[in-house]
Amino acid sequence: MKSMAEVGYGIIGCGNIAPMHAEAIQKVEGARLVAVSDVVEQNARKLAERFGAAPYSDYQELLKRDDVHVVNLCIPSGMRAEVGAACARAGKHIISEKPLEVNTERIDALLRAVDEAGVKLACIFQNRFADGARLVKEALDEGRFGKLVLGDAYIKWYRSDDYYKSGSWRGTRRLDGGGCLMNQGIHQIDLLLWFFGPVKSVFARTNLVGHEGLEVEDLACAIVEFENGSMGVIEGSTAVWPGHPARLEVHGDQGGAVLEDGILRFWKFKEERPDDETIRAGMPVTAPGAGASDPMANVTCEGHRRQIEDFTDAIRHNRAPKIDGKEGRRSVALIEAIYESARTGRPVTL
Ligand SMILES: NC(=O)c1ccc[n+]([C@@H]2O[C@H](COP(=O)([O-])OP(=O)(O)OC[C@H]3O[C@@H](n4cnc5c(N)ncnc54)[C@H](O)[C@@H]3O)[C@@H](O)[C@H]2O)c1
Repeated sequence: MKSMAEVGYGIIGCGNIAPMHAEAIQKVEGARLVAVSDVVEQNARKLAERFGAAPYSDYQELLKRDDVHVVNLCIPSGMRAEVGAACARAGKHIISEKPLEVNTERIDALLRAVDEAGVKLACIFQNRFADGARLVKEALDEGRFGKLVLGDAYIKWYRSDDYYKSGSWRGTRRLDGGGCLMNQGIHQIDLLLWFFGPVKSVFARTNLVGHEGLEVEDLACAIVEFENGSMGVIEGSTAVWPGHPARLEVHGDQGGAVLEDGILRFWKFKEERPDDETIRAGMPVTAPGAGASDPMANVTCEGHRRQIEDFTDAIRHNRAPKIDGKEGRRSVALIEAIYESARTGRPVTL
């Protein structure tokens, strides 16, 4: 890149999540949305008009632009290995939506392409940038919870049949990669891994109970054993009406915290600090938004903004972004193991 004055962004895939990226880019100093692309020309044009960017129906044309330094991959999940590799070969840095890809084999192909091209890759997990999650992570790093005992993720959500019909890729193994865990639950699973560290083994069951004709699960239960000796459960669904806030519980022998949709609901330690009372009084701390029954309801772009700000800074200072490709791979690897356990009826060691 000749000039670091402005980092130019290009969005590929102009569906539901794309405006969140466009709005977030607009709010980051030194970042500019230059171009957008969608195979459905009208989708590209609509987003381009709203945010003052150039529209393309062929993303290869977008990649030819020298003023696009970063590409935001907002296409269906199972398309990112090929499109991402093309972006890398064109010398573009990449911010990918979650999940990074639909399985680890395809993620590894993308990581190789990115390494060979020497570009940077970040995977969107905007919930990590929420204030509540950051406070929990800081307390964990300081050892305030003591010995970790239980880490639980509950994603009891609802997605209508119309949601699954709203895109031909939704609910398919090839392009969605899975159901309530790979698409929806993955945010909380990423947080659980960020908080509790690597998983030793998992035992799981999955089912399809509330939707017809999907290739993927809308119900999953997993027992997780972490390498540090603690355990937890992951319960995910998109068949629970009307849908409840996503809940993440962190319990140690010295303290505990509970997040609901990123909002701190519980915060207590055996050894209290003066700040703890302030944090409790301030609860709820700002949250990234909720997806209990509608993926785009009450969602703000603040989490995306913070992550795109981090990526812009990472490019400027030639450092790794906070959530790089390897970090993005972790949740998919765990979900893959959950699916394998459900398929074989056996515990899976990671
Ligand atoms: N971070 C979050 O909270 C969040 C929320 C929603 C979606 N997502 C992720 O974003 C991705 C997209 O989801 P969505 O709900 O926006 O889907 P969507 O179906 O609404 O949008 C996808 C768009 O990509 C376009 N597209 C397909 N192939 C293309 C190609 N080769 N070139 C250019 N455009 C192409 C489609 O025409 C469509 O407009 C998914 O991976 C999903 O998991 C993340």
